[in-house]
Order: sequence, then structure tokens, then C-alpha cells
Amino acid sequence: MKFNEKFSKATAGMGSSMIRELVATTKGIPGLISLAGGFPSPDSFNKEDIAECYKEVVLESGNDILQYGASEGDAQLKEELIKWEEYKNMSMDEMLITVGSTNAIYYYAKTFINPGDVILCEAPSFLGSLVSFEAEMAELISIEMDDEGINIDKLKQAIADCKTMGKKIKFLYTIPDFQNPTGISMSAQRRMDLVELMAEVNIPILEDNPYSELRYTGEMIPSIFKIAEEKNLRGLVTLVKSFSKILGPGLRVAYAVSSEEIIGKMCSWQQKVNVSPGCVTERMVARFMQKDLLVKQIGIVNDLYTPYWEAMLTALEDFMPKTVKWTKPEGGMFVWLTLPEGVDADELFVKAREQKVAFIPGSKFFPKGQEQHNCLRLNYSYAKPDAIREGVKRLASIM
Ligand SMILES: Cc1ncc(COP(=O)(O)O)c(C=O)c1O
Repeated sequence: MKFNEKFSKATAGMGSSMIRELVATTKGIPGLISLAGGFPSPDSFNKEDIAECYKEVVLESGNDILQYGASEGDAQLKEELIKWEEYKNMSMDEMLITVGSTNAIYYYAKTFINPGDVILCEAPSFLGSLVSFEAEMAELISIEMDDEGINIDKLKQAIADCKTMGKKIKFLYTIPDFQNPTGISMSAQRRMDLVELMAEVNIPILEDNPYSELRYTGEMIPSIFKIAEEKNLRGLVTLVKSFSKILGPGLRVAYAVSSEEIIGKMCSWQQKVNVSPGCVTERMVARFMQKDLLVKQIGIVNDLYTPYWEAMLTALEDFMPKTVKWTKPEGGMFVWLTLPEGVDADELFVKAREQKVAFIPGSKFFPKGQEQHNCLRLNYSYAKPDAIREGVKRLASIM
């Protein structure tokens, strides 16, 4: 049977993941050092405590958590999260537990986007989210960033241009902490300016934040959600946080906080897509938090990654030619390199593979038609510190 003409428009328009395809071309090359993917190190997985918590909750509450569960998420986990994040005056109905942040972002997209609506995002941004907005047939408009995050003047200009052209902007998508792919963190001042502007023009913000706990130096910056909270602007910002990078992406646990109205709509989507998140894993994470293991775990993960991060930044200093510039992240997993004008990182990828080192060309992180080519992303959470240094050395040698 031929399906081509039967597929929905959205399905027919979907490609396979360019990043996965690219990474696949480096698989099986002996001695290849990959600075390409975004996987956490398996050494960060706390198998013993996780196994213990699973065992405890299944034996104690199996009749309850092996049953179908609540679409809005496990109340015990929500209670722990509200305490952990010190959310003031937050009700259970203003939080949704989801199957990874990917699901939360998808529900938010489903809640807001009609075909042709504009979504504003950072240039560059996380492709996983961009493709889910595109699947809803949104038009993506990317806004330049500087060292402090999204450029507010360019953002104002884009909003004005959309107004002139009669385009409807539905929301702004941002990753303010150790952004994927650039590693840039939005400064506190920029977050405040952003909240002020978006409240004024009445455009909601989707704040995607899987990396903020991975801080190796410097001071924590309040989330955009918290800044909006202080101004009593609940609903302006929907914050999505994930356990993927601190406990393990295989668990698929994340959560969203926003106004009751928005969370209610996202929950309706969860009902249709998933029924509920995995109840056993939700309760396991709640138990992990009840036993005060999360603070310890974040300490372990940050101690693990600090030498990885140092190895990356030191190797870049030691080996990269002067013409190459890079961001100086204080945490997270990624650094972004800008090459001289005219150098194409997609071509460099092929040469680098021959020299047995892999990265992701920057062009893969921009919406279609808005690509830049003289840039690339390096990861420092998977290859070990010695390999990171050697990988950067190999990359520098072909530049
Ligand atoms: C910015 C960003 N958002 C969302 C995700 C997806 O995370 P999750 O595993 O929680 O679905 C990632 C994963 O790499 C990411 O980098």
C-alpha cells in the first residue's frame, strides 16, 4: 500500500533529525572522539539510590502507582518540587509533571499554535523544540543573541515587523541558562528587560531550562519565571524544567509551571497523548527528593563535570587559532565557536571526521532559511577530559 498521499500535511513535511543522521555517520569509526552529541555522562547516573527508591516505592505503594495515574502528575512529586524550588503561593493546579521536557514543550505548542502563527526564538536554538513548533506549522523567527542572551533591540524590531506584516506572534521560546547550543546564560538585567517588554506587548514566554543546576562557577541567576512572579505576572512565563541532565534522560521526568489556565490546557493534551506520566518513576523521583538525595546528586554531577568543562575551556585557549572566538559558559554542556567569515563548519565536519573528531555544525541550530555556517557546537559532558583535550587539539589542527 502506498501511504505518501495519505499522510497528514504535518507528517509529510517532517524530515528525519539532521543531527542524528550526522552523528550516525561518525559511529563505528575507531578512535573517533565525539564532541557532537548532548548525552550526559553515564558516570553521572546514581544507579544505587535510584534502584533503592524504585524498590521502596513499588513495595510500599505498588497497588497505587502500578495503576493508571493522574494526568496532572503525582501529587507527592509536585509537593516536593514546590518545596525544592521555593515557589510561593503555588497550587498543585499550576504545575504539570510531564514525560521529559520534550512533552511539556509539545503540549505548550499544541495549546497555542495555529498554522501560520509566528514563534520567536533565539538564534541559534535547540532544534528539538524548533521542529515541534514547525510540526504545528508555525513560522519561526530567530533573534540574534549576544553575551547576555537575546538582543532586546532586535527583538523589539522583530515584533514591530510582525505587526506591520499582520503576523500573529504566539510566544517567545528561550533557553536562558547555559543555552543549548551556545552555552550563553541570559543576564539578570536582560531577564528583567525581557519580562518588562513581553508584559507590555502581551506575548507569553516559554522558558526551557534543563541545565541551570549544572553550574561549575559563578552565581545562580533567578529564572525568568521567578522574575515575572515577583511582578505578579503569572502565566506570562511558562517554565519547563527537566530531571534529564541531573538524574538521567532515560527516566523521562520533567515539569512545567504556569497559570492554572495554561497548565489546565497542557494537561488536557497530556490526557490525550500519554494518559499520565509514568507513575512509578514519578513516585521514585518524589522519594529521591524526600530522602534529600537531590542536593547530594547535584553536587556529585557538578563535581564530575567540572574537570570536563575545565578541559574544554583550557584546550580551546591552548590550541585554537586567534581568529576563532568562543563563548565562556559557567556551566552546562556546550560551548559555541564562531569561525572567521566564509569558513563553513559543514565542510569542516567532513575534514574533522577524517581526523577522528566530531562536532555539530552550527547551521543545524537555526530555523530553515536562517542558517549561519561559520559556527559550531562542542559538547563537554560525554567524552572524558583527556579525550576532550585531544579532540580540541585535532580540531584546531585542521583549522
Ligand atoms: C534545551 C533543551 N530542551 C529540552 C531538551 C529535552 O529534554 P528532555 O530529556 O527533558 O525531554 C533538551 C535536551 O537535550 C535541551 O537541550
